[in-house]
Amino acid sequence: SDSLRALAAQQGLRIGTAVDMGQLGTNKLYTDTVAGQFSVVTPENVMKWDAVEPTRGTYDWKPADQLVQFAEQHGQSVRGHTLMWHNQLPSWLTTGVADGSIGDSELRDILHQHITAEVSHFRGEIWQWDVVNEVFANSWDSATSDGLNSNDFWIQHLGEGIVADAFRWAHQADPKALLMYNDYNIAGQDGTNAKFQAVYNFVKGLRAQGVPIDGIGEQGHLDTQYGFDAQRFQADLQAYGALGLKVAVTEADVRTFVNNATDQVPTSQLAQFAQPYEFSEMLKGCELVRQCISFTAWGVYDGDSWIPGTFGGEGYGLLYDVNLQPKAAYVALQQDL
Ligand code: XIL
Repeated sequence: SDSLRALAAQQGLRIGTAVDMGQLGTNKLYTDTVAGQFSVVTPENVMKWDAVEPTRGTYDWKPADQLVQFAEQHGQSVRGHTLMWHNQLPSWLTTGVADGSIGDSELRDILHQHITAEVSHFRGEIWQWDVVNEVFANSWDSATSDGLNSNDFWIQHLGEGIVADAFRWAHQADPKALLMYNDYNIAGQDGTNAKFQAVYNFVKGLRAQGVPIDGIGEQGHLDTQYGFDAQRFQADLQAYGALGLKVAVTEADVRTFVNNATDQVPTSQLAQFAQPYEFSEMLKGCELVRQCISFTAWGVYDGDSWIPGTFGGEGYGLLYDVNLQPKAAYVALQQDL
């Protein structure tokens, strides 16, 4: 039956996946699945700062260029990920900041240079850039009065104003790319909705100041052990859209407990019910919001996912199983499209 990308194309939506360049081109079934099922790709790691500038002043664009070329050959768009983030920074940078040899004004210049170099390198080839990633506070973080994480590496050193500057610098380097703010739990997943509210207010402020921000990426990292409020999710995406922003679901996965010792839901039901339901509701949220332009899963299959290494005892969060066979969650998306 029809591929996800073909079904999505009928409604002007792109369906995507994060791509592991350790698998693309070497694992045949993986490569065929990426090409056949998806119409937008995100490099899982190879556009991150530590990958592109491992040594100060020495750039390595090769794996990222390969993905861009693959996308071009297969009629796919590319989501660039990510320019300003506290994780996966090169060690020359974090070490320099920690030992005081890189002060804050130099750090600012280095970030400017990084954004300019990377966005320029890919100018004209990136549909959406995740310009700034994960700077807002969760309930357990300490927050600025605007709700940004005051301990975030960038906010701590350069202040909140760096967010606007990052968007301005990216826009100068590629005026046609859609520039996104990307984060998790910023639609529908936060009990009080405080994180959503902070992002909403802050981005509204950026727009009012003429900062070139085009959209919001909700990562969509769900977990079957927590409740997921589908209506809230949709309402939040809708609210961003009403600000004149595009929206995208950028890193969807729905992790489950590998053995159900601590989970409320029996493992047998997770596979059949909770996970397909949550994927399906996220996709429907996107379909119901006119401004939603893409829905991306954070990886292709359960044999190659960040989940087991990050969340102890959890896994199996993607659309394809460890043998790259489609799961119930895949069928659910296919039916929704
Ligand atoms: C993860 C990758 O999947 C892993 O391979 C890597 O080791 C760490 O980063 N939010 C993001 C993504 O924006 O870049 C992260 O990706 C997952 C969380």
